[in-house]
Amino acid sequence: MPPSAGEPPSVAVVGCGAWGRNHVRTFKALGALGAVADASPAAAEAAVASAGVPARGFGDILSDPAIAGVVIAAPDALHADMARQVLDAGKHVLVEKPMAMSVADANDLAARARDSGLVLMTGHILLYHAGFRRLRETVARGTLGRPLHIAARRLHWAPGAPRHALWDLCPHDLSMLLALAERLPVAVRSIVTASAGTIPQAGTVHLDFGDGLDAGISFSAISPVKLHQLTVSGTNAQAVFEDSRPWPEKLALYRPGLDVRRSPVLRDAVPLTPGEPLAEEARAFLAAMTGGAEPESGAVEALGVVRVLAAAARAIASGGAETP
Ligand SMILES: NC(=O)c1ccc[n+]([C@@H]2O[C@H](COP(=O)([O-])OP(=O)(O)OC[C@H]3O[C@@H](n4cnc5c(N)ncnc54)[C@H](O)[C@@H]3O)[C@@H](O)[C@H]2O)c1
Repeated sequence: MPPSAGEPPSVAVVGCGAWGRNHVRTFKALGALGAVADASPAAAEAAVASAGVPARGFGDILSDPAIAGVVIAAPDALHADMARQVLDAGKHVLVEKPMAMSVADANDLAARARDSGLVLMTGHILLYHAGFRRLRETVARGTLGRPLHIAARRLHWAPGAPRHALWDLCPHDLSMLLALAERLPVAVRSIVTASAGTIPQAGTVHLDFGDGLDAGISFSAISPVKLHQLTVSGTNAQAVFEDSRPWPEKLALYRPGLDVRRSPVLRDAVPLTPGEPLAEEARAFLAAMTGGAEPESGAVEALGVVRVLAAAARAIASGGAETP
């Protein structure tokens, strides 16, 4: 049954683990949660208890015309196949990052979404963060002058079984870097500095955008100290977005810019209106499902991120520069 006028469309969350339960809470709060699913009965039961909607099988959700959209928060390796099944069932999909683990899968999903007119969106949550949005406007307005270098640091301790830290951590920074640069890099290099067995846990990615702009990401899933920080250095000023700080300090501007002969001075702690990025992301999904604007982390944006991730993975193997 289609929703009545004014009611949000119904969304199912598939995968209700550590992160998926945040989607459950968020879509529930927006009045849009229709069902949950999880391969683990315990995780499904916990989601049912917190959200008060039924747990159902994935196939059952796909064949239910009352469910208009599906959020996939299952493990990374399942994303592409599950998102493909959702699109093929005629439903909109918000798939967690990374959208896919290969460029071929990402291209295939983007083509299916384009041909069907369905929403394909990825959980690049920082694009919906008030601090990053303000940083993006600041860069676009030219306040920093010409951006020359962007440095991202995503360091924390990730509990549980080791995950491939490049694919797990870097989608967030890449989504921000590509949004700021407004183009793909021309060359990507990457090295791994720590592994658990064969699974990379820490390393660096370097992106050369041409025209004098370059960017670096330091990532670690084994850092005892948490730091989620993005520094954009321009000819006139530098901006630091640090999500791990309290709201009044999340975005700061330093002058005079990237001139090594002068010391940077803090000029502005940029005032932000606090908000929950995941709620903004969920609202963007619901709006796009009902004919609103293409989400910022739509199919084309997510495809760009997967292209750079795949180039970085090739660069780790080759030891050289790769083109996305
Ligand atoms: N956007 C973000 O900021 C953010 C943050 C954390 C995690 N994530 C992403 O969310 C996803 C899940 O991460 P997590 O930390 O919650 O992992 P998790 O292991 O805690 O949860 C995954 C859940 O998926 C379930 N599952 C596995 N196979 C399934 C299947 N076939 N059908 C239905 N459910 C299935 C598991 O039982 C588990 O409950 C990952 O892709 C991760 O990259 C995104």
